[in-house]
Amino acid sequence: MRVVFIAPNYPPEMLEYTRGLAEIGAEVYGVGDTPKEMLPASAKAHLHDYLRVPRILDEDDVVQRVTEWLRGRSIDRVLSNWEPTVILAAKIRERWGVPGMSVDAVRGFRDKQLMKDRVRAAGLRVPRSRRVRTEREVYEAAEEIGYPLVLKPIAGAGSADTYRITSRAELDQTLPKMRGVPEASCEEYIDGEEFTFDTVCIGGKPAYENVAAYLPKPIEARNEEWISPVIITVRDIAQAKLAKGLALGRGVLQALGMVDGFTHMEWYLTSKGEAVFGEIGCRPGGAHLVDQMNHTSDVDLFREWARAVCHRRFEGNTVRKYNVGIVFKRAQGEGRITRIEGLEAWSRACGQWVVEEKLLPVGTPRRNWKHTLLSDGHVMVRHPDWSEAHRMSFAAATDIKLFAAPGR
Ligand SMILES: Nc1ncnc2c1ncn2[C@@H]1O[C@H](COP(=O)(O)OP(=O)(O)O)[C@@H](O)[C@H]1O
Ligand SMILES: [Mg+2]
Repeated sequence: MRVVFIAPNYPPEMLEYTRGLAEIGAEVYGVGDTPKEMLPASAKAHLHDYLRVPRILDEDDVVQRVTEWLRGRSIDRVLSNWEPTVILAAKIRERWGVPGMSVDAVRGFRDKQLMKDRVRAAGLRVPRSRRVRTEREVYEAAEEIGYPLVLKPIAGAGSADTYRITSRAELDQTLPKMRGVPEASCEEYIDGEEFTFDTVCIGGKPAYENVAAYLPKPIEARNEEWISPVIITVRDIAQAKLAKGLALGRGVLQALGMVDGFTHMEWYLTSKGEAVFGEIGCRPGGAHLVDQMNHTSDVDLFREWARAVCHRRFEGNTVRKYNVGIVFKRAQGEGRITRIEGLEAWSRACGQWVVEEKLLPVGTPRRNWKHTLLSDGHVMVRHPDWSEAHRMSFAAATDIKLFAAPGR
């Protein structure tokens, strides 16, 4: 089985998928913009060959170069697990007649208005929304949809340029901030809890399913620096509270023509118990969500994804053993990390349930918390009981403190 894998070392977790592909016996042809000699050793070990392209996001150029490179060789799969290159992978598949999702199907996972139109057409509950390109269109959409509303880029990520707007006056103030966004989605604000619905699919049917709770909702976590965002995978996804969300998620996969691979959906549960669609991608969730899922079931989804997309089989464990909480930390102050407080006491108190500690070490420059949910690092903890996983996660959120100061 020969597989073209786009962006095999970026973002860094892609190295794990490259490994997964190699482990199930695929010959992996990597395509990326990292110079070959700068690839990490683990990538080199799992890649059969590699093509460096000057600009990975220049789709036409990459299609051309990859086609030249592999001329005369038969290729069985063209894959990407990174949101900005899922369309590129589909374009190469179409050009070569390789099995997998079409460009049109992938667009349904990439364009936030198109996905909602398709999901709504299948009779599923979607926020009322409109695609808007000009300020006039925004005002017209706001009139129709009412407040509170959400304004966000049509193909955004990480809650960037995403605003909750409660009045016309707020809309007036927000519009100048969105001038760099060519196309946006203006939609009804859905009040409620927010969850993920994640899968590894074979033929559009989930071979593995996951639900995680956002605590708090990403839009809130991204607007307040003092918050330590917590995300906890839910061990018991068969509980009644989540039933409508799972049904919604499976319906969405059908509506959008999912075939094989990862999906990452977000949905809202209102106080009335209604499940409402948020968004979906045909790629895994970022920010260590797949690590969390792996710790939830003691499974290796990097490898099982590879098996699913290459051989249409899933051999990993699907039993959910733990609720796994990840807690992202943001240091107080600017510059470099100078001090970490409370980590030892927290680790001691949680004991065997701590699965990972990846806070930025003292001396490291802070990350931009607006640009990456990864913030200044994370801890991960798991427990079979939801209340214990929740308690230990929030203890990390409040009791672990990072400090930073300018300096070299
Ligand atoms: N219609 C909506 N109702 C309520 N909250 C929303 C809505 N749209 C977006 N949000 C909030 O904004 C966040 C980011 O929006 P989302 O569509 O998921 O974009 P991104 O691609 O940036 O993740 C969501 O996780 C949610 O917290
Ligand atoms: Mg989102």
